[in-house]
Amino acid sequence: TNGIITIDPGYKNTGACLSGITFLNGEKGILRYRGYSIEELAEKADFLEVAYALIFGDLPTTDQLAQFHSDIREKAIIDDDVKKILDAFPKVAHPMGVLSSLTSALTAFNPSSVNVDSEEEMYRAIVKIMGKFPVLVAWAMRKKQGLPLSYGSNSLGYVENVLTMMFQRPDEEYVINPIIKDALDKLLILHADHEQNCSTSTVRIVGSSHAGLFPSLSAGISALWGPLHGGANQAVLEMLEAIKEDGGDTKKYMAKAKDKNDPFRLMGFGHRVYKNFDPRAKIIKKAADQVLNDLGVEDPILEIAKGLEQEALNDPYFVDRKLYPNVDFYSGIIYRAMGIPVEMFTVMFALGRLPGWIAQWREMRLNKEPIGRPRQIYTGENHRAFTEIKKR
Ligand code: SDX
Repeated sequence: TNGIITIDPGYKNTGACLSGITFLNGEKGILRYRGYSIEELAEKADFLEVAYALIFGDLPTTDQLAQFHSDIREKAIIDDDVKKILDAFPKVAHPMGVLSSLTSALTAFNPSSVNVDSEEEMYRAIVKIMGKFPVLVAWAMRKKQGLPLSYGSNSLGYVENVLTMMFQRPDEEYVINPIIKDALDKLLILHADHEQNCSTSTVRIVGSSHAGLFPSLSAGISALWGPLHGGANQAVLEMLEAIKEDGGDTKKYMAKAKDKNDPFRLMGFGHRVYKNFDPRAKIIKKAADQVLNDLGVEDPILEIAKGLEQEALNDPYFVDRKLYPNVDFYSGIIYRAMGIPVEMFTVMFALGRLPGWIAQWREMRLNKEPIGRPRQIYTGENHRAFTEIKKR
């Protein structure tokens, strides 16, 4: 501090806003959306119900949920010009880059800055993105696989339709596997919001300039992509695969993670807020066992993950730093068992986080938060005169 400005790298001890959406207690491993515990929501609710609660404040009645879903369905069409942008992407493009670009491109067809004081204008923007985003998610995957794009079917539930758009073969009816549908519902609920994490803070600060909802979400997608944040779920699988290729030698990777001269980190471990355990990781670990068992999938990666967790939980380096598995550690194992390619894992995180981002953006605008513009302490050169280039 210089007595006026206090520097807080990574905002570890800085509160950015007042919020009534999500409650975290890092010491006790408590996570609640709008007061409902994550354990109950993951067990008893479906993703669209949770999305409604996060955005509008309370769990919906049957009629409210039906209306929300039908309004979403109505908007689940992508303008052909946006589809042309998708066609222009090379197959090698990472689906997160595709998703971020197309989400922002949707703005070209919608008012960029939503008049949040108009409830119906705000609602219209919300159902539009809740309808179009899953289509863009599925199309990003189909594009990568060189498969024809699908809209699934309007008669299906929200999550069922995501699975259909992702996996439907052009030549046959896609049959929903209830195990996969329930697992995806649960994963999306567990990713739906997490107070002021990096990508949500990005959505809020971009929105604070009164940029529209869609460009703010596009910025959040880019922030989520980083391997220290949502990109960790892809990095975890790549790490576990490397350990498997290496003969399952977890000790070598533990040593690398502890070596100060080695930038390698144990992906899927540690958390800024949870200093005990991440309640989501507990639920996902149990679900991973359940889903692989129910699907009859034997995945050696799961055993390697469990071995790594056991080692870390008994290693002073990790225990002293309170490093435990986080939401990203086991999620990829389920996505993989569902047949989702690893480069789509962070896109699935974004699909889950969408309602949280929307809720947080809306709260920031309804609270008329000022534009985000932090200060700094200058450490550069004192004033100096310009010198002609021939004298430099
Ligand atoms: C998500 O914020 C959220 O809520 C995020 C999220 C959400 O739902 O939005 O929960 C989703 O992003 C989960 C986190 C996914 N990221 C990873 O799994 C990547 C690996 N984890 C880390 O990079 C790290 O733990 C963070 C980014 C998650 C948290 O970083 P912090 O709070 O800034 O902690 P830090 O980097 O200051 O680390 C503290 C110490 C350091 O050692 P010392 O310098 O004190 O000796 O712990 C060490 C770090 O080196 N450390 C690790 C480690 N994580 C921290 N060492 C090895 N492996 C790790 N994974």
